[in-house]
Amino acid sequence: MVDPKTLAARFPGDFLFGVATAAYQIEGATKEDGRKASIWDAFSAMPGRVFERHNGDIACDHYHRLEADLDLIQEMGVEAYRFSIAWPRIIPEGFGRINEPGLDFYDRLLDGCRARGIKTFATLYHWDLPLALMGDGGWTARSTAHAFQRYAKVAMARLGDRLDAVATFNEPWCSVWLSHLYGIHAPGERNLEAALHAMHFTNLAHGLAVEAIRHVAPKVPVGLVLNAHAIVPGSDRPSDRAAAERAFDFHNGAFFDPVFKGCYPESLVSALSDRMPAIEDGDMEMISQPLDWWGLNYYTPMRVVDDPSPKAEFPATQPAPFVSPEKTDIGWEIFPSAMADLVADLYRRYELPEFYITENGAAYNMGVVDGEVDDQPRLDYYAAHLAIAADLARDGYPLKGYFAWSLMDNFEWAEGYRMRFGLVHVDYESQIRTVKKSGEWYRALASEFPKGNHKPV
Ligand code: FCB
Repeated sequence: MVDPKTLAARFPGDFLFGVATAAYQIEGATKEDGRKASIWDAFSAMPGRVFERHNGDIACDHYHRLEADLDLIQEMGVEAYRFSIAWPRIIPEGFGRINEPGLDFYDRLLDGCRARGIKTFATLYHWDLPLALMGDGGWTARSTAHAFQRYAKVAMARLGDRLDAVATFNEPWCSVWLSHLYGIHAPGERNLEAALHAMHFTNLAHGLAVEAIRHVAPKVPVGLVLNAHAIVPGSDRPSDRAAAERAFDFHNGAFFDPVFKGCYPESLVSALSDRMPAIEDGDMEMISQPLDWWGLNYYTPMRVVDDPSPKAEFPATQPAPFVSPEKTDIGWEIFPSAMADLVADLYRRYELPEFYITENGAAYNMGVVDGEVDDQPRLDYYAAHLAIAADLARDGYPLKGYFAWSLMDNFEWAEGYRMRFGLVHVDYESQIRTVKKSGEWYRALASEFPKGNHKPV
């Protein structure tokens, strides 16, 4: 087993270790204190969308167990907590009325973190769009970008004084392609034209929110969390290499290019512009304002080959087989070195600011036996990926910290509660939390920081 202290010694002394969660996945209390439905409440209520029709009504009951959960984070020895703010608690109909009790909850969260010396990394949008906004088309409507700007302003005016960092969006790839093209996540749309509208208006919403945040909370570092895909061609054939490049433009470029270059990838525009919404004057400038940081969520590579069928839509690729025989319980290939190649590739292609690994982790579903959870494979996953993170910091990439996904088992979107990503096990009947073997190991590693007094080796 990798010794956590030996691994810790490989990181710079000011490296930050944290744990991550998201509102809809843990909070529960979906009908309390003025919160109204989000698209995930509606999606979970529809048969056939989420495994066994699980939903976030109770989840980890974090809304009612806030203080105990903050104690748990402190006991994990981490320096920072990444969480998300639920838009439908703050502005329940998306625009219009502001709901004070919703803001009060995040007041308590931030004050509780501060009292325990835990740094706060907030995400404004982790997929819980107020359902009322679907009446206008949700993310396919330009008006939603403006509603998001106002929500960002309201949230940051009240909470910004106690935030160490803020991200506008978590993984636009998921809320755009997975939600509007592949139909796997809420709102479950499967339509390229709708998805392209969601792409542009999500990017615009990001830019509008950056502007609002800089206005009302200028001291808070602003970033964006992207699940950049480590795209690997399934063979060395030129056709498969070209397919991988197209896949890069579609899966990564659709979000990285507008934000970091101020335009959409040429290949995407020439293939799909007839179905994209009108890009208005000033949109691309708004989207491409410089950021203070960005976040990388990495779990697994994406292997692709060319799809030669004349009917294949851009980017015209098909999945290629895994290379490693090892996969996690959710079926994702384990391939840590792809994370290093991905970071190198992104810093070659774009001028990027400093970054955090804002999510990384593994689904393994073993339960509690005699009061303990022996999740050695998760521990091994963390050890392997943290070794890569240490290499990246050593090689000069501006990697400032690492957040484990997740603090505790939670509502894993379309998979419901059957997939467990926590360092801490949650018994959903009793709501008892049990720190897993991986959690103990991560605690030993994280509690070494911040050191500030040793050089990395
Ligand atoms: C990411 C999500 C996060 C969690 C992990 C497993 O895509 O940001 O909420 O579901 O995957």
